[in-house]
Amino acid sequence: MDKKITVVGAGFVGSTTAQRIAEKELGDVVLIDVAEGIPQGKALDMLESGPVEGFDSKITGHNDYVAAAGSDIVVITAGVPRKPGMSREDLLNINADIMKKVCAEVKARCPNAVVIVVSNPLDIMTYLAWKLTGFPAQRVMGMAGVLDTARYRAFLAEAIDVSVEDIQAMVLGGHGDDMVPLVDYTTVSGIPVRQFLDEATLSKIVQRARDGGAEIVKLLKTGSAYYAPSSSVVQMVESIVKNKKRILPCAAYLNGQYGIKDMFVGVPAKLGSQGVEAIIEVPLTDADKALLQKSAAVVKDNIQKLGL
Ligand code: 2OP
Repeated sequence: MDKKITVVGAGFVGSTTAQRIAEKELGDVVLIDVAEGIPQGKALDMLESGPVEGFDSKITGHNDYVAAAGSDIVVITAGVPRKPGMSREDLLNINADIMKKVCAEVKARCPNAVVIVVSNPLDIMTYLAWKLTGFPAQRVMGMAGVLDTARYRAFLAEAIDVSVEDIQAMVLGGHGDDMVPLVDYTTVSGIPVRQFLDEATLSKIVQRARDGGAEIVKLLKTGSAYYAPSSSVVQMVESIVKNKKRILPCAAYLNGQYGIKDMFVGVPAKLGSQGVEAIIEVPLTDADKALLQKSAAVVKDNIQKLGL
């Protein structure tokens, strides 16, 4: 394959991401984890599924970063997941320490990579990755908006009884309890969603989407979601690898857009081979503006807690 895509972290999110990248033949995959044997074993198992699934991507597993050298894209999933009752912010210090080690390697070995952060708390870990790698902000982004939007779209499709493919929507803001599903920009094949659902049903769906990660954590008890998170990050990888220039909500560096400065927060972004090629600013209702500011304030607060 032309592209080399490194996935850091061979837990559920990382290994499912590696599998989806390989099955879509987006590139050769390097899977890295500190646990001896785990990335090697999972990578080999995936590689052996190739003849049956019909993909030619190479997948290798490693404990060090030598094989990652020169990667086009690095997806960082390393970190500990939430347990029931924990917020994503409770993971701040432990995942920041992991991020420091990972980013030193990425900076040294993959200086031209586009970096996609998946570790939580997402917006803060993305900011940290940007600081630690010193990469241009365009080449660093976080995956959250596609996932939060996917949950919102899935619940809407179920309530309206239409195909998920026909729900267009966007969830902005930080990947936390204050994320902002934009009901005004939600359509069903271009038809405003309010023609299908009343306000009470819509606000229940909005709240369920906001709590989507916690709903899964509560059910799984020992970890967090990985099927939808891996699908979401792979959609971003695909847009970058194929230079599709899709407009997807993701945590991008803001320097005044939406009135937010020096932070990574979820906004609509155009993703192509250069990474975040544009940030799309759309007019928001006063209520959504206020929610976005509130969400950004939580992110800022956590950035300050890390002393950044
Ligand atoms: C989620 O929302 C793990 O943050 C991730 O499921």
